[in-house]
Amino acid sequence: MNIAIITGASSGIGVEFFKEIQNEPLDEVWVIARREKSLTEICQKYAKIGYRVLPMDITNKESIEKLSKLLEAEEPCIKFLFNNAGFGVFGAVNTVDYVRQSQMIDLNVKSLTEITSITLKYMDRGSCIINTSSIASFVPNARMASYSASKSYVQSFSIALRHELKKRKINVTAVCPGPMATDFFNIAGVQKGASKKIDSLPMCDPHKTAKGAIKSAKRGRAVYTPRLFYKGCRLLAKVAPHRILMNLAKA
Ligand SMILES: NC(=O)c1ccc[n+]([C@@H]2O[C@H](COP(=O)([O-])OP(=O)(O)OC[C@H]3O[C@@H](n4cnc5c(N)ncnc54)[C@H](OP(=O)(O)O)[C@@H]3O)[C@@H](O)[C@H]2O)c1
Repeated sequence: MNIAIITGASSGIGVEFFKEIQNEPLDEVWVIARREKSLTEICQKYAKIGYRVLPMDITNKESIEKLSKLLEAEEPCIKFLFNNAGFGVFGAVNTVDYVRQSQMIDLNVKSLTEITSITLKYMDRGSCIINTSSIASFVPNARMASYSASKSYVQSFSIALRHELKKRKINVTAVCPGPMATDFFNIAGVQKGASKKIDSLPMCDPHKTAKGAIKSAKRGRAVYTPRLFYKGCRLLAKVAPHRILMNLAKA
């Protein structure tokens, strides 16, 4: 049984990954998030192939064990893994709730690593891992310090893992979108006007980003950055000193 697994499939770009992956030769798409009702509605609305709704909070140890047991029982071939669930916290480190910040690190860093680790043995030649990173990974971002650090982890982890999996012909792609009109900013508590920098950035379209990410992953690319503007930012971050860029990147 060939499958795709999508974490964070109940809203935002996760839904676009779900819609876009319907065109692949898969038997089932396994969708993961906490909101069961949203997952079910999305599957009923957009599925052309089989699906499985797995309502779980992936920051819980029990959820990871449950997924691991399900994989052990079904022994699927995972053709696509989308490590997409994530959220951000906004504000200077001394002003953000430390519990919320830890929860974010648990989701963006720990759960992504755990899900990757338990799924790797069910992948084979041609499988793709697509990790949702961010433009925030390019340079440390003041006022988004822990979020930006969590996405730098995703970036670094993706590149090292890609190297490890080269011989098995499994590709890993880090996707680096700029701001998208999803629930992300509401959940991060960023209202319009809270950051002139964020308000001034060009928006990325979640549908185009998902489509581009899958295309890039299938072509074996290491990183997919939508929009020319952000491709330029990525390049700049490679060549210019970060102490200078950090002033420009401050949220
Ligand atoms: N929107 C942007 O501007 C932007 C830019 C760059 C990168 N990103 C990244 O894109 C990814 C998706 O975000 P989005 O913009 O699509 O925002 P979103 O609409 O808020 O989606 C976040 C998804 O993560 C799921 N999730 C949150 N906590 C979870 C948990 N503990 N266990 C399982 N699932 C959980 C949510 O589902 P439930 O609430 O149902 O659990 C939801 O499906 C994130 O990694 C984010 O960092 C977003």
